[in-house]
Amino acid sequence: MANAVIPSDASQSSRPAYRFNDATRSISIFDPALPSPWINYLSNGSLHAFVSQVGGSSLWWRTPINFRITRYRGWTTPTDAPGFYLYVRESDGTVWSPTSKPCDTPLDQWEARHSPGATCFTGRRGALEVSQHVFIAPESDVLVWDVKVTNHGTAPTALDLFGYVELGLLEYPLESSWGYYVRHQFKTWFEEASQAQLYLFHHESHPRLADVPLVYFASDRPVASYSGDRQGFLGYGRTERNPQGVERGNCGNGSLWGGDACAALQTPLTVAPGKTERMAFYLGVIPGAMVDFAGAKEKLCAELDRLRAPGFVDAQSAGLADWWKEHFSGFDCKLPDADCERQINTWTPVNCVHTGRFSRSFSQYASGLRGFGFRDTAQDMLAIVPRRPDWARAEFLRLLNHQFADGHAVHTYFPEDNQAPARSVHSDDHLWLPMLAHALVAETGDIGLLSARTPFLAEDGITPGVEASVWEHLLAALDFTEAHLGAHAIPLTLHSDWNDCIGRFARKGKGETVMVAQQYIYVLRQMLELAEALRDEAAKARLTEQMKRQRSAVLAKCWDGEWWMRGFDDEGAPMGSKTSAHGQIWLNSQTWSVLADCGDKAQQTAAMDAVARILDTPHGIKKLHPSFPTFPEATDAFSGYSLGCGENGAIFCHANTWAVIAEALLGRPERAWKYFRQLVPHIALQETGLDRYQCEPYAYASSIIGPENPRFGLATLTHVTGTAAWMDVAATQYLLGIRPTLGGLKFAPCLPPDWPGFSATRLYRGCRLDIVVKRPAGASRVVALRIDGKRREGDTLLPEWIADRQTARIELEWMD
Ligand code: GLC
Repeated sequence: MANAVIPSDASQSSRPAYRFNDATRSISIFDPALPSPWINYLSNGSLHAFVSQVGGSSLWWRTPINFRITRYRGWTTPTDAPGFYLYVRESDGTVWSPTSKPCDTPLDQWEARHSPGATCFTGRRGALEVSQHVFIAPESDVLVWDVKVTNHGTAPTALDLFGYVELGLLEYPLESSWGYYVRHQFKTWFEEASQAQLYLFHHESHPRLADVPLVYFASDRPVASYSGDRQGFLGYGRTERNPQGVERGNCGNGSLWGGDACAALQTPLTVAPGKTERMAFYLGVIPGAMVDFAGAKEKLCAELDRLRAPGFVDAQSAGLADWWKEHFSGFDCKLPDADCERQINTWTPVNCVHTGRFSRSFSQYASGLRGFGFRDTAQDMLAIVPRRPDWARAEFLRLLNHQFADGHAVHTYFPEDNQAPARSVHSDDHLWLPMLAHALVAETGDIGLLSARTPFLAEDGITPGVEASVWEHLLAALDFTEAHLGAHAIPLTLHSDWNDCIGRFARKGKGETVMVAQQYIYVLRQMLELAEALRDEAAKARLTEQMKRQRSAVLAKCWDGEWWMRGFDDEGAPMGSKTSAHGQIWLNSQTWSVLADCGDKAQQTAAMDAVARILDTPHGIKKLHPSFPTFPEATDAFSGYSLGCGENGAIFCHANTWAVIAEALLGRPERAWKYFRQLVPHIALQETGLDRYQCEPYAYASSIIGPENPRFGLATLTHVTGTAAWMDVAATQYLLGIRPTLGGLKFAPCLPPDWPGFSATRLYRGCRLDIVVKRPAGASRVVALRIDGKRREGDTLLPEWIADRQTARIELEWMD
């Protein structure tokens, strides 16, 4: 299935701006002049990059804080540059790039194709076609540029290729604050023996000095000239658009001992008519250069031999494709709705791998300085659990190591930087742990996870503290919440809950949060299931009591008549109430009342009806309404966010995911699918228009500007958002309804009324399930399963029914 979009200003061009190629799980972009950078992430789990449709990119190793290798401008103009630039210099001196930018030379044809983990740029000018396929080798910390030059003409063509990147000072915070001194602490030089341009940053107090890498840029072809000197290569007053080194046909052979570094190489090529020549550039790292420079140089020689050996590029490219193939094979569906199918099968899982790897840290908009958010990663891993349980388990255990013995957790942490975690105390961070534990046990059946032992974080917030079982960690999390209840017997907001800015109502320490009360009830239910599986009677008794008390507090004090309040402020006044001047209704306490099953059905329904009536808009559901006035109109504003932006009445996409789940749980498929579909990025872009929506049609946005703002419909901060993981959960587990539980795999699809059914394959406990859902008209409930034809009562597949099986066919039996 292919799907194309015409740019909103169709008079400019009759080409589509982009097209999905579902068979190859890729997107082709045909218009370089999009309103924003549409990026792709490339990664092997340790070396990472992002790259936009016009080649704007950054490369970093392990962490964008301490090992940021190439520079990128996301804010100052010209934005989305520099990048991984390849210049083609034809024999008449014409210079162009297959990325279309940074040169101004017009191309006859151009395409950027993003696929999972790789981007391929193809440009054609006259008889010459050049493609630049960039990816990170799965088995080496190297970014490969696989370049193909085809001569479609009738005469041989001689040309020069120039590869160019701008290098930074590795330690990004240091570069930002002390770069004017530290820029004297590196060397770049060309090494004849290895034919590689090298770069060594030698700041003696780098926080991970022992790991500081030697950076290299090399080619598999003879090098005609080189440069490590940005100004020498570009020329004073010039930019990457028209480098002097390319213009004159020689990089300048400059080395640099301090200043502004780059890596540039020139390789000449002659292409016979009708033929294609292939070459590669390699931009990579060899760790440990500051502790054993000679050793690093030796490793470099061996590494370059490997990279330059015939077959390396193809083998690595195939390895990358295999990794993704395996990833996609965890779940795949065929739906009557092509746009949803594509998003669920390909682009949401891709997005989830990136949030799993990069949390909220680095993108074309995000600075890369933020580290990992505790609550963010705990939620991101929910989508990793079904496809890569080992990865999610390791991350879960690491999260437990960032929890204090009293049960609360750090707010952000820096797994790859020697940097102390952020210690502000939030009411929700620790409460995402039981959810992830429950998901892991439900997926794998490994209840032994709860007995694994791992340390808390010591009081200093840095070193490991006392060791405890996973189960004790989880109980401690609940104990912390139970020990921090406020005047209405619901949790104190503390620094904030999931809504980052809500602490504004709790600065005196007395504000309380209904969302966390509901979240607490939700995880108490999950913990009770785990306690049952463990046969921990003492815990069961205690948790039952906590659940009872918390439920009655919410039911007694938090209903506002038509919806749930959002909390109480420091003075005990309700927030999110008809009596509030602003923020009368907040999305999260409505959706979470359904998730937590707190309140009777009539209340849950009324609350979600209020969401549809007051908060839903043509571009998604607002976070709250009406938005709060901000400065200078309000001197003590809710947040600094302008009306309709971010925390203040934007369509906050992450929060929309819970509305999808809530409507599915209420059994209202039309609304559930409406809420899901309207945020599928491709659908959102089409509905809103490219010029207004602006962002990628394949990656979720953190938020979309709300109706109280003139830029209503503008998507902001794509990729690095919890929307991805929760949309994955919402789609696969609640809309399609294939939901792991402690008892087995439950089937509870919530399908649009006009769908006859769907099919899916899912890997579950080592068995590939072929799921065929045919729903008779009017039926709404699954009452029995047929497993390879054998009928079983109920809607839940018990793992023992498929033990030792490689495949099984599952059909559902329905009732009205
Ligand atoms: C941002 C934060 C997330 C928070 C959300 C809502 O996405 O990363 O932690 O929950 O905003 O405030």
